[in-house]
Amino acid sequence: MKLFHSLTALLSLATLAHSIKYTRLTPSFINYAAESRNYKESPNTLYITNRNGGLAAVNITSAKQFDLIALWENDYPIEGQDRLDNFMVVTELAKGPDGAYPTSTGPKLHIFDLSLETTPNFELKPFQSIDLSGSIDAILHVKLTKLASGEIFAIITAGFAETVEGGVIFVNLTPHYNTLTEQTDPPYVKVLSTGIDQPEGIIISPTSPSTALVGGIKSSKIGIIDFSDFQNPLVLEERDDYGAQLVGAKKSDQPFSTTLNSNYVVLAQWGLTGGAMILDCTDSLNPKIVDETGWYHSLSLSYSNRVKLYKDLIVLPLEQPIGGFATIILEENGKLGEVREEHYPIGEIDKGDSTVDSSKSYCLAINEGGWVYSFVAETNAVYVYCVWEVTGIGRSCS
Ligand SMILES: *[C@@H]1O[C@H](CO)[C@@H](O)[C@H](O)[C@H]1NC(C)=O
Repeated sequence: MKLFHSLTALLSLATLAHSIKYTRLTPSFINYAAESRNYKESPNTLYITNRNGGLAAVNITSAKQFDLIALWENDYPIEGQDRLDNFMVVTELAKGPDGAYPTSTGPKLHIFDLSLETTPNFELKPFQSIDLSGSIDAILHVKLTKLASGEIFAIITAGFAETVEGGVIFVNLTPHYNTLTEQTDPPYVKVLSTGIDQPEGIIISPTSPSTALVGGIKSSKIGIIDFSDFQNPLVLEERDDYGAQLVGAKKSDQPFSTTLNSNYVVLAQWGLTGGAMILDCTDSLNPKIVDETGWYHSLSLSYSNRVKLYKDLIVLPLEQPIGGFATIILEENGKLGEVREEHYPIGEIDKGDSTVDSSKSYCLAINEGGWVYSFVAETNAVYVYCVWEVTGIGRSCS
């Protein structure tokens, strides 16, 4: 608690020290933004999952543009998301940090067909919702992977589940992906228990579609999971001192990343130490640390979350009491360069008719021209910055 207060004081000073221009938006369709992603398949469309309900698709084609394309409106706590071609899944949590969500209809995977995404007929509505309550009581994040056999799996972290310790769930969605239509047969589901406390971040290895790296909310470990035999997934190793949550990014899931080696992943380190870590996954079962910020930027990069890559930058949303984001220069060899950070203005954390005392930020996104859309969870504000202005390296956004 004491540390948290000194962190707040530190950030207040940092925020007063300089001022960088931003645009503040308050779109009605943002409702506690939990994850925001624009995918290779359609880099100008941003999908935002809302923990207080729903999924929005937003047009971010040109400078500072933020226009709603389609909205799946509901009260379900939606958080995880991933896409493979025109196939998309999102997770409904069921339980969160404060227990069960009264508006949740259970831990569910909601499945979408995005083939009409760029047409005027596009409607954001799941063609199937798979109830996982027979296997687990809560889920959190999800990644899709295509195995060497051609089978399509959703790999899900169990987060706030209580029925399984350190749960990771494997769901075979091959017929759903292949036909983009509702399936009557229940899918194959396998639940694996691990030593990772409250699994959240999950990334499929860039060098193997059947290896996953998993981090947990209450864990400082990374789990290396091999599911080449999906009937018998195995935790190969749990390594300590990697930081918590470990929500990651790789070149193939970041549309405007140029510098990152395609065998590497960047992990955001949540917790007090925070920062980013680069892992070389050339040997998928034995990733090696290339560099990390943790040891020299302890407090200022605390609670780093859903990391993004843009050209030669790593951009980290900061889930701190006064939220913000950091930019880190990424060298060709995977080494980390200069770090800069920016915090949201104090005194603009009103939420309609009430005030909240947190501007923490779980997620952000960056469009092609370099505009950062950063989401404040509690207030639903969106701050739009030019990423180069924050880095101070004299390039401009378009
Ligand atoms: C997105 O906005 C651009 C203009 O910036 C426009 O040309 C395009 O048609 C829009 N796309 C959709 C799907 O609305």
